[in-house]
Amino acid sequence: MKKVGFKRLALSLAVVLGLSVVGCGSQPTATSGTKTQEKIVAKFTHVTAPQTPKGKAAQKFADLVNERSKGRLEINVYPSGQLFGDKDEMEALQANNVQFISPSAGKLVSFDKRFQIGDVPFLFNDNAAESKFWDGEKGQALMKGLQAKGIIGFTTWPNGMRQMMNSKQELKVPDDYKGMKFRIPSGGVLVDTFKALGAGATVIPFSDTYTALQQKVVDGTIATFDNIAEEKYAEVLKYLTVANVNSLSYVVLMNKSFYDGLPKDLQDIVHQAMKEATDYERQLSDQSAKDSMEKLKKSIKVHETTPEERQLYVKAMKPVWDKYEPIMGKDLFEAAQKANQ
Ligand code: LMR
Repeated sequence: MKKVGFKRLALSLAVVLGLSVVGCGSQPTATSGTKTQEKIVAKFTHVTAPQTPKGKAAQKFADLVNERSKGRLEINVYPSGQLFGDKDEMEALQANNVQFISPSAGKLVSFDKRFQIGDVPFLFNDNAAESKFWDGEKGQALMKGLQAKGIIGFTTWPNGMRQMMNSKQELKVPDDYKGMKFRIPSGGVLVDTFKALGAGATVIPFSDTYTALQQKVVDGTIATFDNIAEEKYAEVLKYLTVANVNSLSYVVLMNKSFYDGLPKDLQDIVHQAMKEATDYERQLSDQSAKDSMEKLKKSIKVHETTPEERQLYVKAMKPVWDKYEPIMGKDLFEAAQKANQ
C-alpha cells in the first residue's frame, strides 16, 4: 500500500509551524568580510520521494551549501510534497514562503508556454537532448525571462522519458486510446496530446495521482519509469506502454529577492553547489530510469512500442506540432531538433 496521508499532513503542519519561527526566507543580515552575524535558513521543496534522482540531488545541493557555508546558509529539503504541492508551490516561491522548488518544466505553463517544449510529443529523442537544449542559448534565454517574475531559473534536472500506463487494456497504437481518460501533470501540450489520441486528460496534482488512479477517477497516466516505480502505480494499474512520448525535466528555481539578499560569497556557494548537484543528478537519472524499468517488468504487463507503431504515434501527433510550433516559435523547435543531433 502507498503512503499514509495523515503522516504527511502532520509533518507539513509541524514544518510550517516550527520553521516559520526560525524565519525561513528572512533577509540575511549584513556581512563583514567572510563573517555573518546570523544564520540564514532556506527551504527547498519538491513533490517526489527522497530516493529519486531529484530527491537525492536536492539533498546533495543542500548538504554542499550547508557544509561550504559552514552553516551560515542552511537549506532544508522537504520531499514528497510535504510542504507544498503542485498547486501552490509556484505561488509559495514567488511569495518567498519557500526559497527553492523544482517542478517539471511543463508546470510553468501559466508563466510562459515555451517551458512546455519538453512536453511536445516525439520532439526530443532523449533526456540528453533536452538537457542540451536547456543548457543552450534558447533554453538559457527562457530561464532568464523568469527573473521578471521574481524567480531565478538555475538549471534542469532530467527524470527520463514519459510512458503510458492504464488499467483497461494494452495500448499499442493511437487507436487504442479512444475514449479513455488520463491524468496529466499540467495542461496545454499534454491535453492536446491526448486529444490527438482521441482520449481525455485531466490535470491532477502529483501527490493525488495514486488515489485518483486507485479510485478510477481516470483510467491511466503518463509518467516516467522512476515515478511509476516510486509511486507504486503498478499496484493500481495493469498495463505499461514504453513509447517514450516526451521528455521530463525539472527546472530548479529560486526566489530572486532571497538570492539578491545573500552576501556575494554565499551566492557563489549556491552557484557552485547547484552545478555539482546538477552533474550528479544528470549522471543518476539515466541509470535510475533503467533500474526502475527492470523492476516494473516484474510487476506489470509491458508493451514496448515497435518502430512501426511509433510512426503511427508521430503521425497522430501532427496536429499538436502544428498548433504549438507557432505558439512556441519555429526557432525553439529548430533548436530542440538540433539538440537531438
Ligand atoms: C508529475 O506531476 O507527474 C511530475 O511533474 C512529478 C515530478 O515532479 O516528477
